[in-house]
Amino acid sequence: MDISLLREAALLGDSMSNQPLYRFAAISDIHIDLENGGKNTYFIHAEENFRHALEIIKLHQCDFIISAGDQVTNASGAEEEWRRYRQIIDESGYDGLILEAMGNHETRSAKYGLNSLDDCRRDFIRYTKLGEKSIARQPGKTYYAYTEPNSGDVFLFLSLENGVSTNEIDNFSDDQMDWVEQQLKAGDQDDRRVFLIQHANLYGLGVGDDKNRPAYAGALRTHDKNNQPFVNNLRFYHLLCNHPETIWMSGHTHVDLRDRLNYTDHPCHTLHIPALSGSTRIVSDHGGGHILDRTFTGDNAQGYIVDVFYDRVIFKGIDFLSDTYYSDFTYTVESRSGLQQP
Ligand SMILES: [Fe+2]
Ligand SMILES: [Fe+2]
Repeated sequence: MDISLLREAALLGDSMSNQPLYRFAAISDIHIDLENGGKNTYFIHAEENFRHALEIIKLHQCDFIISAGDQVTNASGAEEEWRRYRQIIDESGYDGLILEAMGNHETRSAKYGLNSLDDCRRDFIRYTKLGEKSIARQPGKTYYAYTEPNSGDVFLFLSLENGVSTNEIDNFSDDQMDWVEQQLKAGDQDDRRVFLIQHANLYGLGVGDDKNRPAYAGALRTHDKNNQPFVNNLRFYHLLCNHPETIWMSGHTHVDLRDRLNYTDHPCHTLHIPALSGSTRIVSDHGGGHILDRTFTGDNAQGYIVDVFYDRVIFKGIDFLSDTYYSDFTYTVESRSGLQQP
């Protein structure tokens, strides 16, 4: 692929019409949920919200979709949920690219011994059809890279490989962190803009929660209870500190855009994507702390429409149920592509 010719063409379009180089939809925590065959479904709006979002995404003419993990809920096995996930996509008529990251719920049933971690990883690869996508992936791996063809921008999809207990374990293999390090270095050398999609936020450091008084205990930790490091979680954090121009999109906490905790610039440009299945609100516990209110009101399915320009990326908060932008939850990230300025 001659990236320079593509870049020239893309820049011409950008300079003549002020149109974005490309547009994508950012969603997370779809949470298709058929626990016990649907008898114990927790995320009651998940399917309806996903169907609705695909319709709206088609209307907004997005070039592709990124989904930041927890596509399924997997409390009693994920296979039927994965089938329903594919069925909803097929029935929607959306035939564009969907690029999924593997969250903690993709492996949840392994925690209960219902199947193995390997089974869960295989389901993820199979039902997201990773083998059929134009991505760079090592055999058998659940993490991969996608290069946006008009700009050369790179999207890295990381994977919570090691199971559901995100807050109690080292979540990444040495191999995955070696791969991320190499990709971030290559991005620097080739002057590429790098987006990174990794499901779980960092406890007390990142987005989607109050940094000083976190309400959500399930976030990824850099150290265990005895203050011993989780080596690869810590390495992930340091890699981002060393590459602060990276744009990281996470999900996991489900926190609503209206709680105003969806952007930070440390350790890099970091965006939180609320749960498409219905957001969670942070409320006071009346003891000086915070707790999460998980009442599903059925009144929103939040995410972003993202317009990518030569010198900036605009994350426009949107409710996919009402097809309404949240004009006060729009985030502009100053970020240059490797394209030459028009
Ligand atoms: Fe989730
Ligand atoms: Fe999660």
